[in-house]
Amino acid sequence: MTDLAAKTKQLSAWTGAFGDAYIDRNPPEPALLQPRVKMWSRMLDSLVGRPPQSILEVGANIGLNLRALRQVSPATLYAVEPNGKALGRLVEDGVVPQERAFQAMGGALPLADGAVEMAFTSGVLIHIAPDDLPATMREMHRVSSRYIACVEYFSDQPREIRYRGEEGLLFTRDFGGLWMDSFPDLQLVDYGFFWRRVTGLDNLTWWVFEKR
Ligand SMILES: C[S@@+](CC[C@H](N)C(=O)[O-])C[C@H]1O[C@@H](n2cnc3c(N)ncnc32)[C@H](O)[C@@H]1O
Repeated sequence: MTDLAAKTKQLSAWTGAFGDAYIDRNPPEPALLQPRVKMWSRMLDSLVGRPPQSILEVGANIGLNLRALRQVSPATLYAVEPNGKALGRLVEDGVVPQERAFQAMGGALPLADGAVEMAFTSGVLIHIAPDDLPATMREMHRVSSRYIACVEYFSDQPREIRYRGEEGLLFTRDFGGLWMDSFPDLQLVDYGFFWRRVTGLDNLTWWVFEKR
């Protein structure tokens, strides 16, 4: 993991003090969790009658999504997260047991082909440099037997945005389009927008795809 982290500016940041500060800014309190519960209710509504039995979050941090998911889904949950402090907190808090929590990066997922029914990211693809995105997306596609989901900042055209005053840490684009263009076997199930003004979330675009 240390070797992998040394490879990119982004992973170096997320596995260091910058990543640790994110944990402190985003505690698992009701004000942050309740909007996620609503977010996942809406997204899983698109899969009524055929919900995923197992779900992997890539870049789970301390598991705000997984904590919310536990409230709306009986699925077996898995977490991948490169920041050791965040992953440790997620396990300590009993969100996911140690054996389903992996300190790793999206470009090298330590799971077998088709190990989970859904793999998703939330605010993670935006933090991967464009050249490194295909590896993470290939890995998510490999380990998911059925569904891929993502919740990310949208931009019609790829562009970089300064993040917390720094360059090289946030890249937005049409991630849904990239999923569909990269993997012709993915069929769109549903997509939508969470509006910051009314949801308590950021302005986020979400997609759910199914392998066909
Ligand atoms: C903005 S936070 C989002 C955390 C969480 N998904 C959420 O929605 O609350 C980005 C997370 O992605 C992780 N991350 C960054 N680069 C990653 C990569 N290449 N693979 C997997 N996770 C990564 C960071 O360590 C951090 O926990």
